[in-house]
Amino acid sequence: MLPSASGGFRKLERGLRMSSDDIAIRISNLSKCYFIYDRSQDRLKQYLYPRLQKLMGRQPKNYFREFWALRDISLEVKKGEIVGIIGRNGSGKSTLLQIICGILTQTSGTFETKGRVAALLELGSGFNPEFTGRENVYMNGAIIGLSKEEIDARFDDITAFADIGEFIEQPIKMYSSGMVVRLAFAVSACVEPDILIVDEALAVGDAKFQAKCFRRFEELVSRGATILFVTHSTEQVVRHCDWALLLDKGQIVMRGHSRDIVNAYLDMLFGVERVKRPDSDLKTKNLQIAGNAQNISRFETDKFENRAGYNTYEFRWGNHDAEIFDFCISSGGNLNVTRIETGQPVIMTIWVKFHRRVELPIYGLTIKTPDGVTVFGSNSRDFDNGPLFLAGERGICKVSFTLRNQHLGAGEYLLSFGVAEEQAGEIVPLDRRYDAVCLQVLNHSSRAFGLVDCSMNVEVTAVS
Ligand SMILES: Nc1ncnc2c1ncn2[C@@H]1O[C@H](COP(=O)(O)OP(=O)(O)O)[C@@H](O)[C@H]1O
Ligand SMILES: [Mg+2]
Repeated sequence: MLPSASGGFRKLERGLRMSSDDIAIRISNLSKCYFIYDRSQDRLKQYLYPRLQKLMGRQPKNYFREFWALRDISLEVKKGEIVGIIGRNGSGKSTLLQIICGILTQTSGTFETKGRVAALLELGSGFNPEFTGRENVYMNGAIIGLSKEEIDARFDDITAFADIGEFIEQPIKMYSSGMVVRLAFAVSACVEPDILIVDEALAVGDAKFQAKCFRRFEELVSRGATILFVTHSTEQVVRHCDWALLLDKGQIVMRGHSRDIVNAYLDMLFGVERVKRPDSDLKTKNLQIAGNAQNISRFETDKFENRAGYNTYEFRWGNHDAEIFDFCISSGGNLNVTRIETGQPVIMTIWVKFHRRVELPIYGLTIKTPDGVTVFGSNSRDFDNGPLFLAGERGICKVSFTLRNQHLGAGEYLLSFGVAEEQAGEIVPLDRRYDAVCLQVLNHSSRAFGLVDCSMNVEVTAVS
């Protein structure tokens, strides 16, 4: 189902129906309400007055505001799945995980978990700073439900994984934040949990340790464990999660394929609510927007899907008041190429059909890696030198993005195109086609690796 005209999220239910035996976590209509007291004396009033008012036979008055951190969350996660949870700060991710771990109590709704739950919540939570690493490992293991013998059997594995050496005998308060995470993760991952819950904890570790953690995740799920994983790293979600869900204002606004969820999340962060950027140095003539171009005779729609390089797993959304219905990548004098060579300019063209007059259309282009890392992104709003803001009539226009293309590293990339409308400072997406086109970049003139070719020169001089 495509988004509604109001720009609402489409709902995907793929892969979420399963036999009950497979289910590791089942959450039904879970809600959490906090009582907010605007002034500290309100807390005391709330304690005293309603009782008095009741005694006096009056209708009790409340001195707090209700704040619903979670509203009506229903969710089933299968055994052996890694599920990513993303959402803006304050969207309710930690609250949800803390309820599943039993640290918080829900206001209404139910949840069931199967087996042993281990949690890696915010930094070092669950550790006592005054005790040594060794003592904390035993205390943590006991909380999860392991006997002393079971922890003894795993202790070497835990210390080897944490790799903090002699610090294991020091109080936790002497540890760096990275060391706390290493030890906490080692405990959670080495106790063979059936369900592992990770809340942003990996952000602190270095890249090498993160890679080790993800390898351990894979091992755990291959043995049937389930992982719920909250992170701000969209790349980690696309790479590691079987599917994902997007929380906003305490509600699940979307669930489905990781890439779709990440795209919707990025839009929440940078798309719809993006504020106007100040004039930047980026102003070049690189981006050209022409009106109805001369040499186009064919304006049938749905050409897009039949072009070479089209990615059937694109994520498309918007209110469809305009539609991007065709594209062409050209480079080195060739049209409709799927490979380009670094150093050769490339023109990425889209054709947009407007179904109504749009006063301030904005055209955008993003280049991403297949892992979801944005390599480049820009839009026509950033350029004001030339006939750039086409007051789109009902009709068709051609938009050409010309890139000098001097720095893209060799590899596979995904292109996203978008057309949006600026309405009173708000960006309203009309048609967004994310990851819609695959493009291979060749770089024969360089043996460099990585996303960006910095055109390195090496000079070696004998100094003695
Ligand atoms: N003890 C509390 N009292 C009142 N509000 C709270 C409390 N704990 C969390 N909240 C609020 O609940 C919302 C969700 O918080 P949280 O689950 O931590 O979000 P996230 O992890 O997605 O950033 C936030 O608006 C937060 O301010
Ligand atoms: Mg949180």
